Amino acid sequence: MTLRIVVTRRLPAPGVQSLIDAGFEVWTNPEDRPLARSELLETVRNADALLCMLTDRVDAELFDLAPSLKVVANYAVGFDNIAVAEARSRGIEVTTTPSVLTDGSADLAWALLLAAARRIGEGERIVRQRHWTGWAPTQLLGQPVNGQTLGIIGMGAIGQAVARRSRGFEMSVVYHNRHRLPIDVESAVGARYVELDELLSVSDFVSLHAPLNQQSRHIIDARALNLMKSTAVLVNTGRGPLVDEAALVDALREHRIFAAGLDVYEEEPSIHEDLLLLDNIVLVPHIGSGTTVARGAMASLCCENIIEVLAGRPALTPAPL
Ligand code: DGY
Repeated sequence: MTLRIVVTRRLPAPGVQSLIDAGFEVWTNPEDRPLARSELLETVRNADALLCMLTDRVDAELFDLAPSLKVVANYAVGFDNIAVAEARSRGIEVTTTPSVLTDGSADLAWALLLAAARRIGEGERIVRQRHWTGWAPTQLLGQPVNGQTLGIIGMGAIGQAVARRSRGFEMSVVYHNRHRLPIDVESAVGARYVELDELLSVSDFVSLHAPLNQQSRHIIDARALNLMKSTAVLVNTGRGPLVDEAALVDALREHRIFAAGLDVYEEEPSIHEDLLLLDNIVLVPHIGSGTTVARGAMASLCCENIIEVLAGRPALTPAPL
């Protein structure tokens, strides 16, 4: 019997060609929008594999309706949208896309860091709105980057890639992580482990790369923001709920921190109304892994994982739980 694979969103090249070549019946959402919950639950009923997005909630309710499901391949490295323990208790494997998006995501964190520090968004708005009247010694003064201290919360592959990029800016790097890295990895990355409160108070830039879970939700709340320097910049390319957006609005409005750069939001695609009104924040629409190379490689890795699991072999990149 031909195995059926459900793909919840159209993917960039090479897409799901390897699944088609392998002889599977592949159903791909024909519209370039997320499936509604009811559509997802309906379409997954006789699926053997599900290739889903971070916007799809994959939980016990879905598993109940999909008795043939053997593997869920998440088109993301984060997997907070999936009930992984529940899946595994039912013999369903869950896979993610690590490594292939590390560089793309680290590059975007740096793009936001630089843009927020140097007020690129504000400058662009002034120029485009034809409000620029000429060079001025006091216009749009930002924060220096070179030689400053970078604090990284969550020192996995992406956090480490962000740290490596800081060498070009001659920065000191401190990090906080659930587990301290082995000493040799710490020295290869050039980062010093500190407790969270110390990181917040000594860093000129704080970049978030922790996975979202019970412990990390709102790791940046009003208390954390109060510990940061008034000149500091906060960057979040991890997951929106790492930051309490209401507390961030207050801190930015009262200039208790200098600026922020966000790629992710608490209730995507909604954005806290007041964040949209602030000038000292750069906002982009969850494009951390959004390069042609990374998104293509993510598609390939999802397909490879599905092929392996449906062939009865171990997944290449199982969700790390
Ligand atoms: C991920 O892979 O978790 C990213 O957020 C996708 O862009």
